Amino acid sequence: MELNRRTVIAGAAAAGLAATTLGGTAQAAQGRKPVKELFGTLADGTKVYRWSLENGGTRLKVLSYGGIVQTLEIPDRHGRYANVVAGFDDIADYAAKSPYFGALIGRYGNRIGKGRFTLDGTPYQLSVNDGDNSLHGGTQGFDKRVWDVEPFTRGSDVGLRLHYTSADGEMGYPGTLRTTVTYTLTRHGDWRIDYAATTDKATVVNLTSHVYWNLAGEGSGTVEDHELSIAAARYTPTDAGLIPTGELAAVAGTPFDFRRAKPIGRDLRAGHEQQVRAKGYDHNWVLDKGITARPEHIATLRDPRSGRTLKIATDQPGLQFYSGNFLDGTLTGTGGRTYRQGDALCLETQHFPDSPNHAHFPSTVLRPGQTYRTTTIHTFGV
Ligand code: BGC
Repeated sequence: MELNRRTVIAGAAAAGLAATTLGGTAQAAQGRKPVKELFGTLADGTKVYRWSLENGGTRLKVLSYGGIVQTLEIPDRHGRYANVVAGFDDIADYAAKSPYFGALIGRYGNRIGKGRFTLDGTPYQLSVNDGDNSLHGGTQGFDKRVWDVEPFTRGSDVGLRLHYTSADGEMGYPGTLRTTVTYTLTRHGDWRIDYAATTDKATVVNLTSHVYWNLAGEGSGTVEDHELSIAAARYTPTDAGLIPTGELAAVAGTPFDFRRAKPIGRDLRAGHEQQVRAKGYDHNWVLDKGITARPEHIATLRDPRSGRTLKIATDQPGLQFYSGNFLDGTLTGTGGRTYRQGDALCLETQHFPDSPNHAHFPSTVLRPGQTYRTTTIHTFGV
């Protein structure tokens, strides 16, 4: 049976669970203001703050550095909370070695081949940080910037508005890009992300969020038993550098078919050439719905052990499913345990990787006078 957040809370209350189990839910539902504390100091002396939000049974901690979701806690089927995202305790770890844990990604989520594209006849060379390619905005992407954070309460919602202005030419991208990302926790405990950006010169933009999920709890081991469904009949195969070849290939009859929910581990070792290249899943799924005016449900992740579920809705045309292939046991997370390959996974709503070099992919061009707007909603349940 699918239960929503309100049913769980009501059920836990009826079962006589201590109020602390669902601590703060009642107040938060009335839109309590987010709380700010000092998290750490960067090498250059910049202070990084951490904001704590709670609403509808979901607890979120967000850093001003990278707009990073450091922790996100949700209850299991018995009302027991766990932090379900990978992260660090220490700002120095984020600055030195984070594989984008929980971060906002910009200006361009995923890869641009050789870090090059041409727009309106002008060639641009971007910062290259992944072999020959530019990944997640280059060496100093939005994940490594300090954002201005403005808390808000609006009706029963609580949230943060994060602002960052990227200078013309930063990381090689044209145009001054003024970006606002709004994180909202709704009274049902949904986490909603609204991205907005404007430019003063024609440019390309593809913003996303790089949360690593483990619905059994961060640091609890592999996510291979999580069940995933993705509403996509096609995906974009990649070359050896993980740049799309341009083909939109059918998932039918391949390990890439997630149209019906299946455990991630089921076909993970099928040896498909595309999986061998990426060391697992690290691909863009072409969402059947395409670009939509409003967010539509496109993927469900479920942990059978805890019962926790995550549903994702977006207006975007693509979803990068990355099965944590490059986690190698060298990073220690917030719970004091190391992350090994496949201990967390990412579901990044996006335009397709390398779109500026593939005319038949949906366009990522933003022009002066236009506003880039996109929304992704995460709904939690059991
Ligand atoms: C990419 C992976 C990359 C990872 C970085 C993902 O979005 O698809 O290829 O290794 O980010 O941690």
